[in-house]
Amino acid sequence: MQFGSVLQDPGDNPLEIENLSVKRSGKVIIKDIDLTIKHGEFVGIVGPNGSGKSTLLLAILGELKFATGTIGIYGKPPQSRKLFGRVGWVSQAASNLPKHVRITVRELVHLGTLNAGNLFSLNDQRRRESVRKAIEMVGLENEQNVDVSRLSGGQRQRAVIARALASESEFILLDEPLVGIDREARNSLLKLLDQLCHEQGKTILMVSHDLTAIRQTAHRMIFLEETIRFDGPTESFPDLEKLADLRGIAPVHEQGCCTDIDSKEEE
Ligand SMILES: Nc1ncnc2c1ncn2[C@@H]1O[C@H](COP(=O)(O)OP(=O)(O)OP(=O)(O)O)[C@@H](O)[C@H]1O
Ligand SMILES: [Mg+2]
Repeated sequence: MQFGSVLQDPGDNPLEIENLSVKRSGKVIIKDIDLTIKHGEFVGIVGPNGSGKSTLLLAILGELKFATGTIGIYGKPPQSRKLFGRVGWVSQAASNLPKHVRITVRELVHLGTLNAGNLFSLNDQRRRESVRKAIEMVGLENEQNVDVSRLSGGQRQRAVIARALASESEFILLDEPLVGIDREARNSLLKLLDQLCHEQGKTILMVSHDLTAIRQTAHRMIFLEETIRFDGPTESFPDLEKLADLRGIAPVHEQGCCTDIDSKEEE
């Protein structure tokens, strides 16, 4: 796998992207992406289906090669060994463990403390403490010995977040963590993310179709559709009419506009 060159002077921001473009199966999926995320920010990414949100996250994680540009994570290229444990990844798929896998919440979270970077360095006592704290933070103390397959969708998301926390990740990326969980679970998950950001100083980048949820929690919002069409404070996120304008969509009816980024929004 080949990656773009490392940024010359990236500083130590959690994320510095310059002029990124990514192709999949020969087709340009995202292009001209410039994005800097500073320590302690909570950034929400929204955009219609197929607009390249997951592609962007996968490029940041170093899972996809890019056609042009550079990505620096704490000044290092994606997948640098020096980043081990600093970046946590939570996807909807990550909580969909195969049914035949029998693993308790505590075991799953414990896995988060193991990686090639610390396998021999972090002592058992410290690992146990990280696991205990992470489980407490997500409020799964009573479920810690329960099999993950028996948890609700929201609890499973929390378990996966706890795994990222146990690894002491400073920068947490989440792809659609709210899909398939009920309103109550959603609210408590958002509250948890907000606390992680404000009380623990974590940096959070979350992709979600749930515009309302993102507006409620993120400090800054990005509208992505092949490229970044809006990037600014949540309170100045454009209304639907302006958004249609940004997307180059002409009104069909007199008050016409577009609503498809809300199509998956929960009731
Ligand atoms: N493995 C792949 N090979 C080729 N093209 C792909 C692949 N995965 C995704 N794509 C294409 O890349 C585009 C962007 O997909 P991506 O999954 O990044 O969108 P998204 O914004 O995350 O969408 P959603 O909101 O549905 O999750 C889509 O047109 C999709 O068809
Ligand atoms: Mg996606």
